[in-house]
Amino acid sequence: MAFSLMPNLLIFLSLLPFVPLSGASTIALNSSLSASTTDNSSSWKSPSGDFAFGFRQVDDAGIFLLAIWFDILPIKTIVWHANTSTPVLTGSKVDLSADGLTLTSPQGETIWNAQPTNATAISYASMLDTGNFVLSTGTSNDFYAWQSFDYPTDTILPNQTLPRGGMLYSRLTETNYSRGRFELRLTAEGNLELNPIAWPSEYRYASYYTSGTASTTGNSSESGFELVFNQADIYIVRGNGDPVKLWNDPAFPNGPNYPASYHRATLGYDGVFRQYTFPRSSDGDRIWSIVRHIPDNICTLLNEVGSGACGFNSYCMTTDGTPNCQCPEGYSLMDPDNKLGGCEPNFPLGCEVDDGGGSRNQEDLYELKRMEDVDWPLGEYETLRPYNQTQCEQSCLHDCSCAVAIFSEGNTCRKKRLPVTNGRLNYGVAIIKVRKGTGGNRSAPDPTGTAPKPDSKKENQILMWTLISGSSGLFNIVLLAAIISLVVILKDRKKLEKLVVHGSDFPDTTNLRIFTFKQLKEATDGFKEDLGSGSFGTVYKGVLPNSSKNQVAVKVLEKLVKDGEREFNAEVSAIGKTHHRNLVQLLGYCNEGPNRMLVYEFMSNGSLADFLFGQTPRPDWYQRTQLALGIARGLVYLHEECSTPIIHCDIKPENILLDEYFTARISDFGLAKSLALNQTRTQTGIRGTRGYVAPEWFRRAPVTVKVDVYSFGVMLLEVICCRRSVEIDFEDERVVLTDWAYDCYKERRLDELVDNEEAAMRDIATLRRWVKTALCCVQESPTNRPTMNMVIQMLEGYVEVRLPTCITSSFCL
Ligand SMILES: *[C@@H]1O[C@H](CO)[C@@H](O)[C@H](O)[C@H]1NC(C)=O
Ligand SMILES: *[C@@H]1O[C@H](CO)[C@@H](O)[C@H](O)[C@H]1NC(C)=O
Ligand SMILES: *[C@@H]1O[C@H](CO)[C@@H](O)[C@H](O)[C@H]1NC(C)=O
Ligand SMILES: *[C@@H]1O[C@H](CO)[C@@H](O)[C@H](O)[C@H]1NC(C)=O
Ligand SMILES: *[C@@H]1O[C@H](CO)[C@@H](O)[C@H](O)[C@H]1NC(C)=O
Ligand SMILES: *[C@@H]1O[C@H](CO)[C@@H](O)[C@H](O)[C@H]1NC(C)=O
Ligand SMILES: *[C@@H]1O[C@H](CO)[C@@H](O)[C@H](O)[C@H]1NC(C)=O
Ligand SMILES: *[C@@H]1O[C@H](CO)[C@@H](O)[C@H](O)[C@H]1NC(C)=O
Ligand SMILES: *[C@@H]1O[C@H](CO)[C@@H](O)[C@H](O)[C@H]1NC(C)=O
Repeated sequence: MAFSLMPNLLIFLSLLPFVPLSGASTIALNSSLSASTTDNSSSWKSPSGDFAFGFRQVDDAGIFLLAIWFDILPIKTIVWHANTSTPVLTGSKVDLSADGLTLTSPQGETIWNAQPTNATAISYASMLDTGNFVLSTGTSNDFYAWQSFDYPTDTILPNQTLPRGGMLYSRLTETNYSRGRFELRLTAEGNLELNPIAWPSEYRYASYYTSGTASTTGNSSESGFELVFNQADIYIVRGNGDPVKLWNDPAFPNGPNYPASYHRATLGYDGVFRQYTFPRSSDGDRIWSIVRHIPDNICTLLNEVGSGACGFNSYCMTTDGTPNCQCPEGYSLMDPDNKLGGCEPNFPLGCEVDDGGGSRNQEDLYELKRMEDVDWPLGEYETLRPYNQTQCEQSCLHDCSCAVAIFSEGNTCRKKRLPVTNGRLNYGVAIIKVRKGTGGNRSAPDPTGTAPKPDSKKENQILMWTLISGSSGLFNIVLLAAIISLVVILKDRKKLEKLVVHGSDFPDTTNLRIFTFKQLKEATDGFKEDLGSGSFGTVYKGVLPNSSKNQVAVKVLEKLVKDGEREFNAEVSAIGKTHHRNLVQLLGYCNEGPNRMLVYEFMSNGSLADFLFGQTPRPDWYQRTQLALGIARGLVYLHEECSTPIIHCDIKPENILLDEYFTARISDFGLAKSLALNQTRTQTGIRGTRGYVAPEWFRRAPVTVKVDVYSFGVMLLEVICCRRSVEIDFEDERVVLTDWAYDCYKERRLDELVDNEEAAMRDIATLRRWVKTALCCVQESPTNRPTMNMVIQMLEGYVEVRLPTCITSSFCL
């Protein structure tokens, strides 16, 4: 990881003296800056060069912001801007005088100013290294007559605090810095709250997040006093000085590295408050990575607001806290540039619509599309019960008022008119009415027959970037690229030695390094240190010369199809395109005649199996839950977010590795399907490992992503119970974990499952929900099993887990 490179830098930084204000570059009175499209260098920089104050152009049409930004970073991230009432145009000017700062339009009108509250005279201004722009009277270094930290926009920085009554407001869109739809406030009562705003008014809807730090007794010393950004952590301090954590994060302080990184926390235009880091070192990954965020899942929280997190007629899934908005089939974004702006049908709907010849026969005009696990929970005009799905579909099709129907609970049909709101993942089937010939164009049919998929390639890419910004996988690969300068793309094996550097349009392409057999033989010292044998061959530890992140795991593939060269290349390039923080990253490969090898990142903390089964006392409950969630996220990515879904086929604790931060990383994925699936299916019948194999393997039924859901369910029980799925030596009732878990659940003996582990018993609601979720995953019928996305919703408690009466033919409640 990048941080392992940092010790030197850390020492270096701690030796740097902190520059006192008197030594800071001060800006003298009568200085000025002007907004110009030709001279973009006009700004006042902080002594370290980290920050600058001045005009930044935000729009091709010559609109500027008077702003403070990270000047040192390639992405000049804006952290503050003047809240002018009118746009700042080319030719605007800011002047520093004894009265303060004055921003004037090209016509000379004052459009914004910063003045000391008590009319003292300013002696100078200063852009500090903290990112705070201050006006000083020159009397005391501690007293600023005005400071930008007192008037935050959407961002707070380390050393900045938000007092009671303080507020951040989001921008409108990615590129429009006008006041947007969300606010974060520390209320006068001491609660930190996130509120939606009834844009364009400033009316505040009820909060969708609250820290609960207001004292119930009104005792001010017990209620939240300020929000503090101290080094790399953000927390609330009560009146009596007690800190209150905002996020439960056991990784801290191993996660964000201070001072080896830059930090900021920003209220996004999607309503999510996120903390980000950016490595100071130039060979790190040059993007802002998300460290933490609140709330966890905004999709389910904005019920008070008209449309929900994604706008009207849209539905919302979260990926690491970021809403991922999708239009139903036959619908497209109202504003193609604003994914949160809602969707509209690509065709006319309603009782007045005819086929052009006067016929309003609904059956001729419309057909129905079905989406599993999507719901618009509010606002039906009619609820029909008991109805079966066929009746529900017919009812909607023939009713000219009906645009969408939700069939759920096995007998309930809820009919809705447009616009539908608050779309999200939930149990049930959404039935969408689309004009014949217009629907089904936007998204390809789902090959797995399961979850809805992102609509278009572009959206996939956006999603991918969202994912990657929080991913250490990219971190690693970019870092590696920087160090070894060998990020290559090779289509032609004859060019083997001629390495082409290619890094610009990442992640669209596979940036895999191609190794020769000789190189890998040397790297592994003649395949000496055996790390273990997986399903496809043996893994050896290796060291790449001339690279500081040099430890790798080399997998020597066996049992491969003879003439499968093309398949091998296709498969490898598919694996190479995956980037997620919960996947082991493929770095390169070797393909020389019979020698086929894959080179992966080396994972220093062994496998989940070692972690779960090798320790007394048991590993921490909270850490176990986080590992399980990480694996679930990795599987969602493989199943739903790759351009072709990847079925793992062999999910088990041995195939989950732990990196140096104990993040769960799925390994061995992508190999199963075309490399071995077809073969082993006919040769040995079953792929996968005893105890984790879904029943459909035995029935020779089609294999879908739901086989992984089954194996995940088994593994989830192992994580909960810290024991293997089959333990021959145990007493009969306990030999098979799934059966035993089912009995314990049914007979309310959850304490036995976790051996009375204290942390788990304290968290009994979570424990029960997780056991239920696991049992839901191991249902006999693949179609009854939830998708991995739904599994996450269930684990996190966003949707209720409903277990059918019978999980298998032999187990009924
Ligand atoms: C700034 O300008 C004013 C008026 O033009 C002048 O009186 C003053 O001396 C100037 N101050 C400095 C520090 O140059
Ligand atoms: C800033 O100006 C320089 C030359 O004046 C130009 O080369 C550069 O591209 C400009 N940068 C931006 C971000 O406009
Ligand atoms: C700008 O911020 C100040 C201080 O928070 C506030 O008083 C003022 O009304 C704001 N102006 C606009 C145009 O929003
Ligand atoms: C006014 O400014 C002086 C510094 O010149 C400061 O000591 C004092 O606290 C300020 N008063 C208020 C009400 O801000
Ligand atoms: C933040 O404040 C602390 C002391 O309060 C100081 O040591 C540290 O340098 C400051 N951080 C920055 C980025 O200036
Ligand atoms: C930002 O959005 C507001 C409201 O829609 C609009 O008036 C303004 O022109 C936009 N600004 C830019 C720079 O596009
Ligand atoms: C408020 O709470 C503090 C303890 O946090 C206590 O010492 C103090 O007496 C309380 N004040 C009142 C007025 O109840
Ligand atoms: C749905 O109900 C209708 C009317 O009761 C019945 O004819 C039909 O067979 C049912 N369909 C299914 C799939 O159960
Ligand atoms: C279907 O999609 C293609 C491009 O993806 C587009 O050119 C075509 O117009 C669409 N057809 C309909 C009926 O929307």
